Amino acid sequence: MRSGRMKKGAGLVVALLAHPAAAKCCTDPVSRDVVVVGGGAAGAHAAVWLRDNGHSVTVVEKASQLGGHTTFFRDSASGKPINVGVQAWMEYKDAFSFPERMNVSTSGSMSFTMNTAEFIDFTTGLPVEGYAAPTPDELYPALQRYLDAISPYEDMVLPGYFNFPDPTSIPEDLLMPFRDFVKKYNLGAAVPQLWDSTVMGLGDPMDVPTLWVIQASGIPMVKALLGVGAAAVPASGRLYDLYEAVEEFLGDDVLYSSTVVSAERKEKGVTVQVESATGEVTCIEAKRLLIAFEPTTENMAPFRPDGTEKKVLSKIGYSTVYAGILQHPSLQISHAYSDRLPSTVPSNFTEFPLASQVGSINYIGDTDGLFQFTAVGTDEDTPETMKALIGQSIDAMIEAGTIPASEGAVAFAAFADHGKVHARVTADDLRSGFIQDLLSLQGHKSTWYTGAAFSSGFSTVLWEYNDVLLPDLVAGL
Ligand SMILES: Cc1cc2nc3c(=O)[nH]c(=O)nc-3n(C[C@H](O)[C@H](O)[C@H](O)COP(=O)(O)OP(=O)(O)OC[C@H]3O[C@@H](n4cnc5c(N)ncnc54)[C@H](O)[C@@H]3O)c2cc1C
Ligand SMILES: *[C@@H]1O[C@H](CO)[C@@H](O)[C@H](O)[C@H]1NC(C)=O
Ligand SMILES: *[C@@H]1O[C@H](CO)[C@@H](O)[C@H](O)[C@H]1NC(C)=O
Repeated sequence: MRSGRMKKGAGLVVALLAHPAAAKCCTDPVSRDVVVVGGGAAGAHAAVWLRDNGHSVTVVEKASQLGGHTTFFRDSASGKPINVGVQAWMEYKDAFSFPERMNVSTSGSMSFTMNTAEFIDFTTGLPVEGYAAPTPDELYPALQRYLDAISPYEDMVLPGYFNFPDPTSIPEDLLMPFRDFVKKYNLGAAVPQLWDSTVMGLGDPMDVPTLWVIQASGIPMVKALLGVGAAAVPASGRLYDLYEAVEEFLGDDVLYSSTVVSAERKEKGVTVQVESATGEVTCIEAKRLLIAFEPTTENMAPFRPDGTEKKVLSKIGYSTVYAGILQHPSLQISHAYSDRLPSTVPSNFTEFPLASQVGSINYIGDTDGLFQFTAVGTDEDTPETMKALIGQSIDAMIEAGTIPASEGAVAFAAFADHGKVHARVTADDLRSGFIQDLLSLQGHKSTWYTGAAFSSGFSTVLWEYNDVLLPDLVAGL
């Protein structure tokens, strides 16, 4: 479908019969002010901002649609649209002006299913006997204590690291392992909620510097959990509406199912060679390159990072996150299964399962046995290893007698590979000036960066981040 749209710009496409590796000369390049690579929350917003500010832009997107971690599934039985990945836009500054700009409302409310909570050790399949989930009277004051504890650091970390302190004056709170931060501020009763919402995505959240937990579940998220900030969705409930509107707006300025295969980056301008899934090659000459995906070694390879870039980017560690919708006849309607460790009992809330693990499998209300899952892997995991782990976790519950046996096996109605996320470095790297080194990459070799690794993993924060970053990117264009 999208390739049809791409072909509309066929005059811009240089068809090459030769093997792509040999396709070095760009005889008929497309000229743009900015080439944006990656069309997720950050890249899609940036492209609209650039167009609105009078700059020409092409977006190169690996997938067949925009939106990145924001995808959706339509349940054919109920017709219900189900968000996969991003679940809501957390209120932050003026960020809702972006959906408004695209004529997408933010007036809907998140749908919740009231499930019976079951706390299971997924390795044995046994319920974690004696687990005492925090009561609301414990949870909300603890969330408030967390908000109070992280609020002094807001301007250092949101919407990006523009005001991050010098390596020698980084507050100890941001550097200490989250486990110690939880003890220092008595936050235990807040942790299961934070863990279930986003923090488990870090893989080993208790051991990373608190900075990364704040970036995974910071002020906008906690305000939403406390009910003092909005967690908005469109009236339709479907977050993807926004990206559909952006696709419409950008039209032929997006190359879908396409990746950059090689790039030449200089102090004044870049040339990138793009190849589509069907083998069409497009060359783009742009004054600036905006990278809007996670800057992993694999993703950066076609851009041939220089020593300076490699030195910084190779320090970043990631976990992998998988989400989606599954069915299994043994899973019980109106139940939610969450992974917990026996050592958590009764309320030792600094003890959680490490990746690789299946965080939760929750029934989705008003559906015929659909369950939403989140699973977190190490950087070694793949969709295949995680699908196997999910199957094993359900089988373990059956073997332990926690859920009844049945004929069926696990079936995935939707499986989103969110890949490497939750960029983080060690406390020592922070003390050695990692953040300053990261910031110094902006503009190096005409290359700029947006996205969670340079900001925080929330769509709204990324939109505000772009509003600060992009005026610098376009300066002098
Ligand atoms: C399971 C899950 C749930 C989440 N829930 C929420 C939530 O409720 N609210 C919220 O605000 N945030 C949520 N997030 C965080 C989310 O990551 C951010 O909000 C935001 O979507 C990140 O946007 P991004 O543009 O940085 O990255 P992405 O959305 O990952 O976009 C990157 C884009 O680049 C493309 N791409 C990657 N590599 C290449 C390449 N080499 N060439 C070309 N294109 C490439 C990808 O296909 C993708 O479209 C969630 C994340 C996950 C994983
Ligand atoms: C939003 O709606 C207004 C008014 O109907 C229209 O002029 C504008 O083009 C729309 N914008 C987008 C991005 O659809
Ligand atoms: C929590 O669990 C860990 C690991 O099993 C243990 O070392 C610690 O003593 C426990 N703490 C409490 C308060 O029970």
